[in-house]
Amino acid sequence: MNPAKRRTVIAGNWKMNFTPDEARAFIREVKPLVAGKDKCDIVFCAPYVTIASAQDEAKGSKISIGAENVHFAEKGAYTGEVSAKMLTACGVKYVIIGHSERRQYFGETDETVNARTKAALAAGMTVILCLGEVKEQRLSGITKEVVSMQTKLDLAGVSAEEMKRVIIAYEPVWAIGTGLTATPEQADETCGQIREVLAELYGTEVAESTTIQYGGSMNEKNAAELLAKPNVDGGLIGGASLVAEKFKAIVDAAQ
Ligand code: 13P
Repeated sequence: MNPAKRRTVIAGNWKMNFTPDEARAFIREVKPLVAGKDKCDIVFCAPYVTIASAQDEAKGSKISIGAENVHFAEKGAYTGEVSAKMLTACGVKYVIIGHSERRQYFGETDETVNARTKAALAAGMTVILCLGEVKEQRLSGITKEVVSMQTKLDLAGVSAEEMKRVIIAYEPVWAIGTGLTATPEQADETCGQIREVLAELYGTEVAESTTIQYGGSMNEKNAAELLAKPNVDGGLIGGASLVAEKFKAIVDAAQ
């Protein structure tokens, strides 16, 4: 973390978990645990149908509720999709885009990730843009090239001004849901490489002020070490964001 230069953001990605009632109960439980923890922003990205109940329960707290995806068109014949306008009309500010599960199971490409990112930014939202290498790419030593290419393609056409509303989540695919975590050194190195690409694209001021999270089996045990690294500005947390005490411990590590 480098709080002098950029916000630390601890975000949960609930994925396909929690009914509306379960989400409400979870927020009720976690709310007092993270009250007054002012050194980071706290976001839970929720399935569309649980957003309203989670938001209702989060009212008056520092917790924001975000979405897990958004479509690139304003409206139209896209069965099953939700637009940025619909999300903002529901008071949703944050949205995850480009998660590896979307890329892996639902055919998302850098092109669709880029289109969704631009649509969300145009609607005034803050994007949590996910990218990261798969295991074979890490083993072949091309992680830097992979994240560099993704950063450039996913942010094509995004202005320096809009970058104020972009958070990047570096999520090595081999670390997601596997219990394998990148070492703090690996996380710091790759987040730093992404920051170098941002400097190339937008200049050092934007690069230095952009929040770059790490995601991939971050938990209550490894969070402090990861967050101690200067280029790791927070976490995007899957499994451990479903357990209030674990999530609280990660928020504590960011204080
Ligand atoms: P896990 O924390 O369960 O590995 O998931 C990480 C993730 O995919 C967050 O978006």
